[in-house]
Parts: sequence; C-alpha cells; structure tokens
Amino acid sequence: MPSALINGKEIGQSIRNDLTKRIEYLNEQGISPGLAVILVGDNAASKVYVSNKQKTCEELGIYSQLITFDANLSEHELITTIESLNADPAIDGILVQLPLPKQIDESNVLSAILPSKDVDGFHPINIGKMMLGQDTFLPCTPYGVMKLLEYSEVELSGKHAVVIGRSHIVGKPMGQLLLQKDATVTYVHSKTPNLKEITLQADVLVVAVGKAKLITSDYIKDGAVVIDVGMNRDENNRLCGDVDFESVKEKASYITPVPGGVGPMTITMLMENTVQSAENELRQDKRSENR
Ligand code: GUN
Repeated sequence: MPSALINGKEIGQSIRNDLTKRIEYLNEQGISPGLAVILVGDNAASKVYVSNKQKTCEELGIYSQLITFDANLSEHELITTIESLNADPAIDGILVQLPLPKQIDESNVLSAILPSKDVDGFHPINIGKMMLGQDTFLPCTPYGVMKLLEYSEVELSGKHAVVIGRSHIVGKPMGQLLLQKDATVTYVHSKTPNLKEITLQADVLVVAVGKAKLITSDYIKDGAVVIDVGMNRDENNRLCGDVDFESVKEKASYITPVPGGVGPMTITMLMENTVQSAENELRQDKRSENR
C-alpha cells in the first residue's frame, strides 16, 4: 500500500496563518514579539538554520536580533550576553544555536536563559515541566512532530511508538510527548543490538539518528506511520532523511518527506513559542495593571 504524505510545508503554513492573527492582536496591544538568536562560530549548517529562522521572523512580523560571536568566545562572555537579553523587555525568546564550541559548557549556557524566555524548551526547569505534563515551552522539533501527527489525525493512544535516537533536542523529549498521548514508547539507539526486531513492532516510528537512508523498508511494519527527523546529504549531494523514502513509502501508511516534512515544523514551532512568550508577558502586564 503506497503511503500518504505528511506535508510539513502545508501544515506549517496553516499554523503560521494562525500565528499572523495572534501577532496582529499583540501589535494592537502595543507589543511586538521579539526573538534573539545567538550564533557562536561558523558552523555551516548552523548558519543556514539561523538564517532560516530570521527569514521566518521577518515574514511573520516578529522582531529578530541576531548576535554572532567568533568561535573563541568565552563561556563567561556568552552568559553575560544572555543575562542582558534576559533583562531586555523587547526580547521574548532567546535561542542559542547548538552545537557550541568545546570550551563552552552547553548546560551552563542553557541554564542561564530565563525559563520564561527559553523558547527552545531546553532549560532544566522547562524540561522538568514537560516531563510532568505542565504548561511550558516544548522543544521545537518534537513539538512539530506532535503537530504533524495531530493534523494527520494519527491515533496514538495504545499504539506502540518507537523513537530511534536519544538526543536532548529530539529523541528524549519526543518519547515523553508520545507517552503523554498514551502511546507505549520504546527508545532505541546506537547501542541497541536488535534494532530491526523492535522497529518492526512500531505503529509509529520516529527516526532521529543523522545517518542518510539508514532505515529501509525491511525495518518497517506494514501500515506504520514514519516520521523522518533526519537532514543529510546523499551520495549525489541531495538532501535526504534518515529514512530511505522510496522503499519505505511503499509500506508505510503515512510518511514525512525530506525536505518538506519535519524541517518546516521546527521553525514554525519556534515562532509559536516566541508568540506564546509575548502573550504570557501581556497577560502578566494586564494582571499587574489590575492590582
Ligand atoms: N541545533 C540543531 N537543532 C537545534 C535546535 O532546535 N535549537 C538549537 N538552539 N540549536 C539546534
């Protein structure tokens, strides 16, 4: 059975249309949502991601501020910059593009961001809230995957969801969000000996490993929903995912393409978190006015 495509570009656009209305309302209240993006060093992929984020901010009318540093930046200087953005009322969201150069401790940096401006959802407090199912900023890629599943009306309750990968950015939070929707979740990773045996049981398979076309159709149960978080280059230097799309699409019920699947959703959810942060701020202002 050939699968249906989950179109991240279209679903992302529909969420952005809603965001435009929310931003208009904020503007009427005299508020312009603002995102600060910090880029350290000159990692080529990070530069592309950051410029896409800025472009999307511009399209939506979100104020964006790009702060760039040389790769030899000290952790102290970076944290000082974050502290001034924490105190800046024009900034609702702060994003430090990862990875960071090795002299900088990532966890110290992420912990320095005010949880109320942590639109990446990487602060330990926000991760804790996510684990408890409390209202918070959700990490953008897993949040985007949940939106793709919701828009495609994929039932998760009682289903076996398998997540390949256990990164802080994608794999770990992905499993938690699927669990909150009552899926039975299995994590597999590079040390799992019987990968195929487990993926063949997956009703929903989320692949986030960073290896071009690793998952072929022999890893897939008939009718599975396959979400490909990977972004790689194939032997012809063309963009491709972690899933071998051509073979897997013959077996899956739903599949995300690369590009045009998860990628556009990650940026969209960053915009959503930034707008949400500005709305939270407005609510706080109104509450203090009423005191
Ligand atoms: N590097 C790769 N993905 C991400 C992301 O979602 N957020 C940040 N800050 N850095 C990343």
